[in-house]
Amino acid sequence: MNAPTAMEMEKSHTCSCSGKAKKACTMNRRQFLFASGATTFTVMVTMTAGKGKAEQVPALVSTYPRKKIAKLSELKQDEPVTFEYPDEGEYASSILVKMGKEGGGGVGKDKDIVAFNLTCTHQGGDMTDGYKPEHKVLGPCPLHLSTYDLTRHGILVSGQAYQSLPQVLLEVDGDDVYAVGMFGLIYGRYDNLIS
Ligand code: FES
Repeated sequence: MNAPTAMEMEKSHTCSCSGKAKKACTMNRRQFLFASGATTFTVMVTMTAGKGKAEQVPALVSTYPRKKIAKLSELKQDEPVTFEYPDEGEYASSILVKMGKEGGGGVGKDKDIVAFNLTCTHQGGDMTDGYKPEHKVLGPCPLHLSTYDLTRHGILVSGQAYQSLPQVLLEVDGDDVYAVGMFGLIYGRYDNLIS
């Protein structure tokens, strides 16, 4: 597949962080891309953890044919829906959650619906049932306590990991919510391409 043009990237998705989250995690309009078919590429994303300096970090984005995973009308706040993505192989388990609070990459009227892979990026801990609605985080991981902020693209907020949690890119079409790609590398895979 050809590399996307600058114009195509300009028209594409934008980060929807706001307020403090916007300062903490900024993804400009040229950095968030959707394309048809399966392809993988790297973008630079600005992240700020705690009071640290803003830092540009590379992030892997992979796009796929979209997969329907939920209906908007059936989602209840802070009640996660589990699904497999981008395939049904190892470490593909993921959750979608309507947080009731705007999140980076969030979709829906309030931009509060996000989805993430459930495998800890440190050593593969299973974080199923790890969503904490009071803080909108996933974790602590049962192995070494890593915790990830779901309002800020899965950035690590505490623990042993050093990579953000891979985020599932979402699209809404009518009442349907689709997964269309991955932002970040899934644990245990050298890329996110479907085998
Ligand atoms: S595997 Fe999750 S913190 Fe180590």
